[in-house]
Amino acid sequence: MKKDEYKFSFDIYDSIEELTEEDAWLLNEAREVTENAYAPYSGFHVGAVAKLANGEIVAGSNQENASFPVGLCAERVLLASASSLYPNVPIESMAISYQADTGGSDHPISPCGICRQSLQEYEGRVKHPIRLILGGMEGKVYIIPKASSLLPLAFTSEELK
Ligand code: THU
Repeated sequence: MKKDEYKFSFDIYDSIEELTEEDAWLLNEAREVTENAYAPYSGFHVGAVAKLANGEIVAGSNQENASFPVGLCAERVLLASASSLYPNVPIESMAISYQADTGGSDHPISPCGICRQSLQEYEGRVKHPIRLILGGMEGKVYIIPKASSLLPLAFTSEELK
């Protein structure tokens, strides 16, 4: 028997003020895009905005449904748009923010399990890491250099070869 270990590191900033101009702009856009969420059931509005390697900006927001499992997270709406509008163009950075009807948006949220799987597939497909910028409407910001580091031992396309 032997043990293995999985580690990843990420940066924690005290607030958006500490980010570069471009990262702060992306996070502010993600904050604004929360307004486009259709989230009448959860009251949890998520916005995602990405900068692509060709310079284009693509946004997504969560889109819920009366049949709850049909709902889509902001991240996967963004990935589907990016892939449809600009197929095979790498995503450099994706900012994700949120606001809840119940109030408080003072810490980062990170992508759900299904979105981690989708982000991982996208990275693999275009062979480029997706840098995540995670932050609420205020408070700390996390920058994660590579989305797939959030999904260790992932099931990938390699298994199907
Ligand atoms: N949601 C996202 O859009 N992204 C996440 O990273 C977490 C959750 C959405 C799904 C659902 O519409 C609502 O937030 C509450 O779970």
